[in-house]
Amino acid sequence: MKLLEERIRQEGLILSDTVLKVDSFLNHQVDTELALEIGREFGRKFAGEPITKVLTIEASGIQFAMATGIALGVPFVYAKKKKAVTLAEEVYSAPVHSFTRQETYQVSVSRKYIGPGDKVLIVDDFLATGAALVGLVQIVKEAGAELVGVGCVIEKTFQEGRGLLEQLGVRIHSLARIRAMSPGEIHFED
Ligand code: G4P
Ligand code: NA
Ligand code: NA
Repeated sequence: MKLLEERIRQEGLILSDTVLKVDSFLNHQVDTELALEIGREFGRKFAGEPITKVLTIEASGIQFAMATGIALGVPFVYAKKKKAVTLAEEVYSAPVHSFTRQETYQVSVSRKYIGPGDKVLIVDDFLATGAALVGLVQIVKEAGAELVGVGCVIEKTFQEGRGLLEQLGVRIHSLARIRAMSPGEIHFED
């Protein structure tokens, strides 16, 4: 998505060889028109698939899942990270190891909102190590739903996320794919 790549070049802050900050338009302040266009792009990419739900994880996947849900005319559901005050049997859950925070947390989704018969598209802001996305894939499986694919706004192709998801047979579509970066320099995949 050219529009997105240009915006990353203009406003992205490369903090290190692995961390890109996009707080001015994606991750803290959100450019709403760009978010809606991102949703339409995922909608076009997965058109023809009878998707019934979009699934993401709080917090920064929410605006893109909502935009995609609007484009597809379906609800979106976001997995929660905090242990909710619910019984374990009421939720599907999966452990996620955060490499940045060096801790493992549970993600959970109520059994009311995903189930057999659902065709699920997962959407998230970053595809990096893939840990959170693998957790969401596990939840879709546990629910007995069908996973149509994963849509990521920004993928860092030099990290291991894509490989992990492909091992699980997941179809991935990313809108901006970064091959390499360092402060002052960014290279996208062709
Ligand atoms: P992940 O690939 O499964 O997301 O796991 P990882 O442990 O690598 O990433 C931890 C968090 O950092 C995730 O957010 C992820 O989206 C985010 N992240 C990864 N790489 C980058 C990056 O280059 N820039 C920015 N801005 N974020 C990055 P999270 O834990 O889901 O938290 P939230 O921000 O969505 O609440
Ligand atoms: Na995220
Ligand atoms: Na994030």
